[in-house]
Amino acid sequence: MRPSPAETPSAVSGVVAPKIISRGVTKVFPSVDGPITALEDFNLDVAEGEFVAVVGPSGCGKSTYLRILADLDRHTSGQVEIRPGNDPAKPLNNVVFQEYAIFPWKTVIDNVAFGLEMRGVSKRERLATAAGWLDRVGLRKFANYYPHQISGGMKQRVSIARALANDPEVLLMDEPLGALDAQTRAVLQEELLRIWEETRKTVVYITHSIEEAVLLGDKVVLMTAHPGRNKAVFEIDIPRPRTLKTTSTQAFSEIKMAIWEMLEEEVTQAMEMQA
Ligand SMILES: Nc1ncnc2c1ncn2[C@@H]1O[C@H](COP(=O)(O)OP(=O)(O)OP(=O)(O)O)[C@@H](O)[C@H]1O
Ligand SMILES: [Mg+2]
Repeated sequence: MRPSPAETPSAVSGVVAPKIISRGVTKVFPSVDGPITALEDFNLDVAEGEFVAVVGPSGCGKSTYLRILADLDRHTSGQVEIRPGNDPAKPLNNVVFQEYAIFPWKTVIDNVAFGLEMRGVSKRERLATAAGWLDRVGLRKFANYYPHQISGGMKQRVSIARALANDPEVLLMDEPLGALDAQTRAVLQEELLRIWEETRKTVVYITHSIEEAVLLGDKVVLMTAHPGRNKAVFEIDIPRPRTLKTTSTQAFSEIKMAIWEMLEEEVTQAMEMQA
């Protein structure tokens, strides 16, 4: 008889702590109209190597949560932690935002190498690493171009390559494809799938697109309308590797519809609050 998982040595000795812990996270912003609670008692644990997509109506606190995770802002109460890895030189996180946050005065390859430069990696090594990432995102020929000479989709590839070249413990993405046209977005979704399947990075990925969340994520976390709380979690058990063709399967449509049914009332509520 095979031992049950609880009896295997790895399960006994290796209770692995989550890579990201967020428990009871609350954020209150002061404002002239009084305090604004952007996040309320929000909980999310992410395992090492897991891709978690976060979906919720506009204004529900997604970016606030990501900024807290990235240590760009402080939470008011609760616990937020990214567990460090074995290599202290590695950054805990890197963020890719919707706006192409790349330096206009640096070439494509120097943008990708920027984080490594900040960490004191030798020029030779950082350019080699950056060139490898440019290859992986299909920008090899554009290494010496400046940002104004490339398209929006290419700029976002630069941002993604720059974050990954840095090899952070976790990758945080806030609507990284949100500003792109539908076709470019589809191409980048496939690229992200391929890259993630190679790297198995721990990722928190914010998107407005349920389709994108289901395509990319191991889990889709739903947030309520403002203030952002936990609404539901969907485990996406659609096998990998996934491609855009996955979106036309019945399993995919069913999960997408189930998520939309839950999200719809939150979106309606958010729209009523903004009206
Ligand atoms: N610096 C700030 N000061 C005051 N209120 C803020 C601040 N930043 C965000 N908020 C408020 O917190 C709430 C959540 O904002 P946040 O940007 O996190 O939402 P979001 O889910 O990312 O929205 P979207 O989907 O539109 O990007 C909103 O009500 C917003 O007005
Ligand atoms: Mg946002």
